[in-house]
Amino acid sequence: MSYNLIAFEAAEDGIALITVNRPEKLNALNAAVMGELDDAFRRVEADPAVRGLILTGASDKAFVAGADIAELPVGRAMAAREMCLRGQAVFGRLERMPKPSVAAINGYALGGGLELALCCTVRVASGNAKLALPEIKLGIMPGYGGTQRLPRLVGRGRALEMLLTGGLIDAAEAERMGLVSHVVLQTELLDFSRALLRRIFENAPLAVASILEAVDTGLNAGLDQGLRFEAAVFGTVAATEDAAEGTRAFLEKRKPLFKGK
Ligand code: COA
Repeated sequence: MSYNLIAFEAAEDGIALITVNRPEKLNALNAAVMGELDDAFRRVEADPAVRGLILTGASDKAFVAGADIAELPVGRAMAAREMCLRGQAVFGRLERMPKPSVAAINGYALGGGLELALCCTVRVASGNAKLALPEIKLGIMPGYGGTQRLPRLVGRGRALEMLLTGGLIDAAEAERMGLVSHVVLQTELLDFSRALLRRIFENAPLAVASILEAVDTGLNAGLDQGLRFEAAVFGTVAATEDAAEGTRAFLEKRKPLFKGK
């Protein structure tokens, strides 16, 4: 698939940079952008040379300013439900990917834009970032996971305040509440995100994938089931060649050489 509304660059270091590229509409997510993102996430998932991804928005003003308001199927219940389910499926593909992802939030992350960032493994923001779930101001509500993922990340009270007021929070406040992990200069946002991914890439890929899966499985299923899942996956990871290499390297006081096996 060739892309018109996103840019996809896969670098030799295993990092795919996906940029939503519709700056004249502040990178708002219309159906065409969603289709291209879906394809890009499938591509990252399928390509063994890609080990992780960074998601960002074109221009220095917006990450993604939400779903495209001009395309909202207002007044059509079934079409609106379908749109939600479709968006949730695309975003879910990103969240469930066994490879780490960083949302490099370079400006407005509103509505669907914030919901997209919530599906990434880590969120990093530039100082000018502004985040909100403003759907309520339009008389609607989030539909791409905002009512579910935001409370899981920042707690019920803070999430409900954002959901019910629709108010903007700045980068510093987002960092204080754990909605983003780091705030950096806009000029350093992509380099910082790349460096973060490279630190993850130093570790055994199967262990990385297993941790991603264990965390989300436990959060979705609850503690007891999550712990059982952790033990099962721990068994699988402990039997890998990389586990043998990692423990041997520690005892031999050298850096491990992981192979993803
Ligand atoms: N959907 C569709 N178009 C959008 C959009 C969205 N979510 N967000 C911004 N745009 C468009 C604007 O309509 C405008 O288009 P135009 O130049 O053809 O009129 C263009 O992007 C630039 O936005 P503008 O509003 O002029 O910029 P601003 O700096 O004055 O305001 C925002 C920036 C982010 C505060 C404002 O655009 C906004 O509130 N956007 C909607 C956010 C939202 O409610 N998102 C949730 C949607 S469910």
